[in-house]
Amino acid sequence: MRRLSRIDLDLPYPMYEWQKVFGLFRPTACAFVIFLTRYVPWSAVKNAMLRGLGSRIDPYAAVGLGATFDIFRPDLISIGKGAIIGYNVTILTHEFRPDGVYVGPVEIGEGALIGANATVLAGVRIGAGAQVGAGAVVTRDIPDGRRAFGVPARVFEEEQHSWRSIHSGSSIRTSRRASSWRRRPT
Ligand SMILES: CC(C)(COP(=O)(O)OP(=O)(O)OC[C@H]1O[C@@H](n2cnc3c(N)ncnc32)[C@H](O)[C@@H]1OP(=O)(O)O)[C@@H](O)C(=O)NCCC(=O)NCCS
Repeated sequence: MRRLSRIDLDLPYPMYEWQKVFGLFRPTACAFVIFLTRYVPWSAVKNAMLRGLGSRIDPYAAVGLGATFDIFRPDLISIGKGAIIGYNVTILTHEFRPDGVYVGPVEIGEGALIGANATVLAGVRIGAGAQVGAGAVVTRDIPDGRRAFGVPARVFEEEQHSWRSIHSGSSIRTSRRASSWRRRPT
C-alpha cells in the first residue's frame, strides 16, 4: 500500500491548473533546476542542486544522467548513502488523477540500486540494499536487501525457486543464476 495523501481541492482540471494546486513560482523554479540536473555529470554538484530543492540526498548517493525528480514536491524524496539511481530513472511524489491530486514521500535506502529507466511512483519505500531492475515500475514497497523486477515491479520470492513472479505467464523456471542469488548475502 502506497503512502498517499489527497489534496482537497475542488478543481475540474487539476493538472491543467497545477499552479492552483502547488503554487506558480516554486514548481517553475524546480522544473528549471531539475531540467539542468538531468545533464549535470558531477555527483557533488547534482546532489547539491537537488538538496537546494529540498530533496534529502546523502552526499555519497549517485544520480545518473537523465534521472528526473518530481518538480512539484522534490522535498518528499530522500536517498540514502551509497544509493545508485540509474540513467533516466523517474521519481514521482505527486500524481494527478481525474478524481484529485495525491502526494506521497519516496524513500530510497542506503546502498539501494534503481536500474536505468525505472519509474518510482509516489508513496513507496525502497529498502536499504534493495535492487530494482532496469525498466521496472515500482508501485509497492521493496523490503531491505530484496530484488524486484518488471512492470509492475515484483519482489523475487526466493522460496519459489523461479522467476514466475517476474515473468508472469511463463512456466516455472529454476535458474542456476536464481539459485546462486539465494546464497548471496543480502
Ligand atoms: C538488478 C540487476 C543489477 C540484476 O542483475 P544480475 O544480478 O546480473 O541479474 P541477471 O542479469 O543475471 O538476471 C537474472 C534474472 O533476472 C532477469 N532480469 C534481470 N534484469 C531484469 C529486468 N530489468 N527486468 C526483468 N527481468 C530481469 C533475467 O532475465 C534473469 O532471469 P532468468 O534467470 O530467468 O533468465 C540488473 O537487473 C539491472 O537492473 N541492471 C541495471 C543496473 C543499472 O541500471 N545501474 C545504474 C546505471 S549504470
